[in-house]
Amino acid sequence: MEVVSTTGELRTAVAAARRANKSVGLVPTMGALHEGHLSLVDASRAECAWTVVTIFVNPLQFAANEDLSNYPRPIGDDLAKLRLRGADLVFTPTDDEMYRIAHGTFVDVGVVARPLEGAFRPSHFRGVATIVLKLLNLASADRAYFGQKDFQQTLVVKRMVADLNVSVEIRVCPTVREADGLALSSRNAYLSPDERRQALAISRSLREAKAMVTGGERNAASVLVRMRAILAEAGITQIDYVVLADPETLENQSKISGPTLAAIAARIGSTRLIDNELIEPSPEP
Ligand code: PAF
Repeated sequence: MEVVSTTGELRTAVAAARRANKSVGLVPTMGALHEGHLSLVDASRAECAWTVVTIFVNPLQFAANEDLSNYPRPIGDDLAKLRLRGADLVFTPTDDEMYRIAHGTFVDVGVVARPLEGAFRPSHFRGVATIVLKLLNLASADRAYFGQKDFQQTLVVKRMVADLNVSVEIRVCPTVREADGLALSSRNAYLSPDERRQALAISRSLREAKAMVTGGERNAASVLVRMRAILAEAGITQIDYVVLADPETLENQSKISGPTLAAIAARIGSTRLIDNELIEPSPEP
């Protein structure tokens, strides 16, 4: 496994893979890798001859009050995991390498970036779209892999790729969970044992929404009341959103009539967690 940190080295390695007629898979990450990230590496290796993983904690997607300086950066562990998992190349640039002093171009994706995460983290998706476009350009990947846990991010990236005619296939892979349902996230490392127990109410609430809707409930308000009650019973009070939304437009649904995204963002102590379930309602009787 090769590890490079300059854009020049990355481009040289990509050119060599291309000359060898290898298809290129890109797995963009911010490091602190867990099975969720590694499942993306597996998916890329299953479909592409050459897999590039990027590790870059992108300052542009963090607001001033967010956890940029504390964000975990266990680079030695990350590289060991990627070596075991069979990544071909890892790109670990510095901030200066990715954003030169005069950097002045940003990607604003529009409507799909505005609700949910966009409402609570107004510049977040501008940062995500800008870095993802830069990484797609550098890696000239055939396919790029993202986790469903960041559902809105996958919509933002797909929209950007379609709007800006980027020649890449975006693959969305299932959320990986602990046995007790907690969605894997680099931010879980911040949770105390009590907070971790409390956090389980998020996936419980989403499972309940899925059970209600697949069981025939069509009234979104009834499902949302139950979802919020599960969070409240666990003592989760700092809730940014609990929604049932159209998975393409992210518009809130009042009557459930087709595929539905159930999504939650909440703070457990000082840790902000997000999770979601895609729900396919049972056919009308
Ligand atoms: O999902 C993430 O880890 C980040 O948002 C990404 C896609 C690597 C861009 O920095």
